[in-house]
Amino acid sequence: MRNILCNIINPLSDQQAEFLLNQIISIEADKIIAITPRKDFVGNELEDYSHCLALPGFIDLHVHLSQYRMRGKFEPALLPWLEKHVFPEEARSADMSYATELARMFYKALYQAGTTFAVIYTAPFESACEAAFRVAAEMGVKALIGMTMMDMNTPVALLQDSQQSLGTSIGLFERWHGQKPDLDYIFTPRFAPTCSFELMQRTGDYATRHKAWIQTHLSENTSEIAWVKELFGFESYTEVYAEAGLLTERSLFGHAIHLNDRELGLLKAADAKIAHCPDSNFFLKSGEFSLSRIEEIGLEYGLGSDVGAGTTLSMLYHAKQMNYRQGLFPVSPAKALYHITLGSAKLLGMENQIGSLQPGKAADLLLFSTPPGFDPGPDSLSQLIFFASEFPVEEVIVNGKSRL
Ligand code: GUN
Ligand code: ZN
Repeated sequence: MRNILCNIINPLSDQQAEFLLNQIISIEADKIIAITPRKDFVGNELEDYSHCLALPGFIDLHVHLSQYRMRGKFEPALLPWLEKHVFPEEARSADMSYATELARMFYKALYQAGTTFAVIYTAPFESACEAAFRVAAEMGVKALIGMTMMDMNTPVALLQDSQQSLGTSIGLFERWHGQKPDLDYIFTPRFAPTCSFELMQRTGDYATRHKAWIQTHLSENTSEIAWVKELFGFESYTEVYAEAGLLTERSLFGHAIHLNDRELGLLKAADAKIAHCPDSNFFLKSGEFSLSRIEEIGLEYGLGSDVGAGTTLSMLYHAKQMNYRQGLFPVSPAKALYHITLGSAKLLGMENQIGSLQPGKAADLLLFSTPPGFDPGPDSLSQLIFFASEFPVEEVIVNGKSRL
């Protein structure tokens, strides 16, 4: 049992966040059991974090574990960047001991960044994905994890046989689905250029029948889009996925930058979800996400770091980039917070468990101290988002356990 005296910043909607001064968050086992204003609190076992801001743990909707160590390697565009930096780096994870050590390093960094739930791509090897699950289970990491699938247009070191790619993915799903409440499998065809139509179709069919999650990349870069049209002969990128049966309410598409109205309509009709990755989109000069159009049509989205094209695991940094990477569309601090917490929890169907500080939800919370001269107050959220590096993280609590 812990009673933490602190100041709460809580997302309420994409327009509103609340600031609550001097509150006591009571934690028992893995849950928040009460939030009580200090003046109403009876009891004496208080931990004094009254100089701190308490926020719900952050959610990262799109991150490549296997690319953690190659962040920041410049290339002018997506396709040459994949060839030159990503594929050779992912090939290193064929060695299970390398993949295991990398998973440890990655999860530790996730916790340090305040991410308490992540949707993860591993390298295209069963052993690397198995290692990612085992280490996650050992370290109490909450995540959806999937082995990247690729059966064409792929260097030999990463190439999978089509049958084996799906068979291995199903094996991982069967081993890990339902094992732990906060850890599950997500089917992960990399993107259309490296997946045969048959592989995508069979993956979509299996995932739909088993109500499983699917993730992939969609419409990130103009050369990629031209290549997809040439490979599959459909009118648009989204249609390839639609025809393959990959558009479901449990499908999470990374990027989704250059979509026409028809494509947006297809995604909306399927109630598909989007992982918006603003830092990555500008690192690779992929383009600007049409936030106003996505909101107009009412597609559900949340933020992803997209490490390694994203440069950091810090979701506060990506929240700031969400604002900075819109030319004319101002993104409020409340909206940015929502899309790294409650909005993403909702998108995942997990809003009763995670995403905000509420009695009954998991005790996933972050305690940030404020810089000298900046007392906790209603402007703290805005300041935290725009100069996060000056707010030291004092504690990261996941399912009631201190992880930092
Ligand atoms: N498209 C296909 N694979 C990748 C990847 O690893 N990163 C990014 N940013 N886009 C991709
Ligand atoms: Zn990605």
